[in-house]
Amino acid sequence: MYKCIDSGIDFEKFDNTPFKFSHKILNHKALSIESLSKALPRMPKGHVKYSKGFDDIGGDFDNAETTHKNNLTLKETIENIKTSNSYITVNRAEVDPSFKELYDDLIEDAERMMKLKGVGTKALVPKIFLFIASPGAFTPFHLDRHTTFLFQMRGSKQVAVFPQFNPKVVEPTQRECYADYGGLDLTWSEEMDQYAYKFDFAPGEGIHIPFISGHYVKNGTEDVSISMSIIFRTKQSQTWLDAMGFNNRLRKHFAKLGIRLKAIGTKGSLDRLKAFLFPVVDKLTELRKS
Ligand SMILES: [Fe+2]
Repeated sequence: MYKCIDSGIDFEKFDNTPFKFSHKILNHKALSIESLSKALPRMPKGHVKYSKGFDDIGGDFDNAETTHKNNLTLKETIENIKTSNSYITVNRAEVDPSFKELYDDLIEDAERMMKLKGVGTKALVPKIFLFIASPGAFTPFHLDRHTTFLFQMRGSKQVAVFPQFNPKVVEPTQRECYADYGGLDLTWSEEMDQYAYKFDFAPGEGIHIPFISGHYVKNGTEDVSISMSIIFRTKQSQTWLDAMGFNNRLRKHFAKLGIRLKAIGTKGSLDRLKAFLFPVVDKLTELRKS
């Protein structure tokens, strides 16, 4: 029995295919407006970020706080969220004591699913994010370097999720550079939309976004949207991430030897070998920089 997610989900789809589910935390006390309005202002510096809302899918979501300012204070942004076309994200909400119980329950659910799927027993680097958006705001196309369970609390959304390793959506060299924080902006084109799984998503519903699956979100126009996600890695996705780092750092060098590195996600044993070697590659990259 899951604590936050309704039973009946197909764990075989975990970290492979997106799916929708029902959740049990719609009325959780940590997510009430009263509790959030006390918790947000006392969050440590840097945990609450906000910007102007996006009105297109191709915006620069990663750097929104600096490149897409709304020219309001946080207090003004919260108070006027219904009309200010703004977007607030809370990073690592679990640092506030009001989220402790919910955080533990979400991790328990994540680990239950991981064990069923056989991809590790411990949720690695789990974090809670909150998203509060004005009606109609977009979250532009991007990838998460984590596995995500997104829970809708208020308002509606349409979420488009793309197959995680499809080269027609994101070409492997781009994906691996982005995953390795290689300073790459993802490109969006309308042709990519044909590959999306699209979900309409209302309060009480959730969606699973597999590791590194591209996605974008269109918030409904009728109300403010409040959603929360638990993000984490598994033993398998940490292997994929490290192996992507290996490919990104060494692709040029292997190419000089006439060797084309195989994309991550296509051969498990090779991915594991690359991930095993990645700490050495990472150390060498650091030494070369210093
Ligand atoms: Fe995301």
